[in-house]
Amino acid sequence: MGFEKTIACIGAGYVGGPTMSVIAYKCPQYKVIVVDIDEERIRRWNSDNLPVYEPGLDEIVKEVRGKNLFFTTDLEGAVKEAEIIFISVNTPTKEYGVGKGMASDLRYLEKAARDIMKYANGDKIIVEKSTVPVRAAEAISKVLSGSKKYHFEVVSNPEFLAEGTAINDLLYPDRVLIGSRETPEGIKAREEIVKIYENWVPREKIITSNIWSSELSKLAANAFLAQRISSINSLTPLCEIVGADIEEVSKNIGLDSRIGNKFLKASVGFGGSCFKKDILNLVYILRSYGLEESADYWMKVVEINEYQKTRFVYNMIKEMSNTLADKKIAVFGFAFKANTNDTRESAAITVVKKLLEEKAIVSIVDPKALENAKKDLKDVKGTVFYTEDPYEAVKDADAIAVLTEWEIFKKLDYEKIYELMRKPAFIFDGRNILDHNNLFRIGFNVYPIGKKPLTHFEKI
Ligand code: NAD
Ligand code: UGA
Repeated sequence: MGFEKTIACIGAGYVGGPTMSVIAYKCPQYKVIVVDIDEERIRRWNSDNLPVYEPGLDEIVKEVRGKNLFFTTDLEGAVKEAEIIFISVNTPTKEYGVGKGMASDLRYLEKAARDIMKYANGDKIIVEKSTVPVRAAEAISKVLSGSKKYHFEVVSNPEFLAEGTAINDLLYPDRVLIGSRETPEGIKAREEIVKIYENWVPREKIITSNIWSSELSKLAANAFLAQRISSINSLTPLCEIVGADIEEVSKNIGLDSRIGNKFLKASVGFGGSCFKKDILNLVYILRSYGLEESADYWMKVVEINEYQKTRFVYNMIKEMSNTLADKKIAVFGFAFKANTNDTRESAAITVVKKLLEEKAIVSIVDPKALENAKKDLKDVKGTVFYTEDPYEAVKDADAIAVLTEWEIFKKLDYEKIYELMRKPAFIFDGRNILDHNNLFRIGFNVYPIGKKPLTHFEKI
């Protein structure tokens, strides 16, 4: 069957894979080719064991793979065949040189642009799907201007999906943002991208804008979301002292329609590959324009998050008689949030490393993220066990630390768990997902986030 057009995507990660799968699923008239340099990743995209776990993803991939969705390492072929090329490569925090630890490392993006230029056989529309610093399109255009033969129009189309709900977010987005230069070529190119999304997204939800607004809106959206979590988390230590309950506070303030109730869930700290790196990038950009006050404001969002993770472990040490040495801690959850196998920047990494520094024995339970957990902790000294069985993890454990809000943790038999543990038994619920009163009744000493602890210890 002949296709109406061919779309390629460079980068088959958590964004490129699911996004292109949904485009292929919703647009059977287009051929979609997803390319990556990572051969193992591509092999898994072509297998039954996809490299990304997302509810609903397997079904969509099964439906369209081999029909109009193709995963390959053949970059040259994909570039030649496609009229529209999305770039969805990683843009991590720079780990060297100027801007180390703050700026976005654009080398993968630049490499993708250079490869496009090298293999192109005609004019192409280049779509920035990766999250980039504002004015990155200029940098990409600069690279692409090296081609004297063809014209490459760069369009910004940031992605707003959240992991764990990626398929739903892609099928029913709050908005799709497409920014371009406001020249006839820029507007023509962005209309081409509008046409793709129009296949399933209502037109009024497809927003077109100036390219710099589009780039900055993505960084700003992530900064605002993270800022809400840090705002609520910043109040949790006060709640624990004065006897207020952070869940009640969240509910009470969230009922104000001007504030809204989302992203006010107190936690052990936000994780994920993007919030921290995108805020650091925003701070770096602000500083580079001399906007120190604005930079300091956003930096605090990251600092509060670091404090929240450290505070969680310090609280465990303090409450467990100031020593964790040789005590067994069952860590419930290693993914940075539920319904994903992704562990990048997960609060669990910081917590487990600190527990091991205290010479605790750690037993990690996670239904999807153990493979990544093992990679994250491979160079760390200490005793770590990995299991998918929570009852195995808690055997002779002194404490449980809940770090990911997996549904399965809510449904466990805590009477049995209590029996299996050493006494006194502690639960530190870093996600406030368990029934604290019931746990206390069973005999646990319970330490939620932002609520008074429930303990059986007498003050002497
Ligand atoms: P990822 O690391 O999972 O995937 C990136 C992929 O790009 C990797 O598989 C890598 O091998 C590949 N790659 C790098 N350079 C390449 C090249 N030159 N040619 C071919 N392949 C190359 O990253 P991700 O989580 O998918 O994020 C991608 C971008 O999307 C980032 O800029 C991120 O900030 C942004 N983003 C991520 C999310 C999310 O939820 N993960 C959401 C919105 C936006
Ligand atoms: C986030 C944004 O929600 C997406 O819109 C964005 O596209 C994406 O970053 C990105 O650019 O990468 P994601 O990191 O996948 O998505 O997941 P979130 O649901 O935002 O959760 C991030 C972290 O915050 C998780 O650790 C989560 O547990 C935590 N969180 C979230 C809280 O602690 N409290 C909340 O109320 C909400």
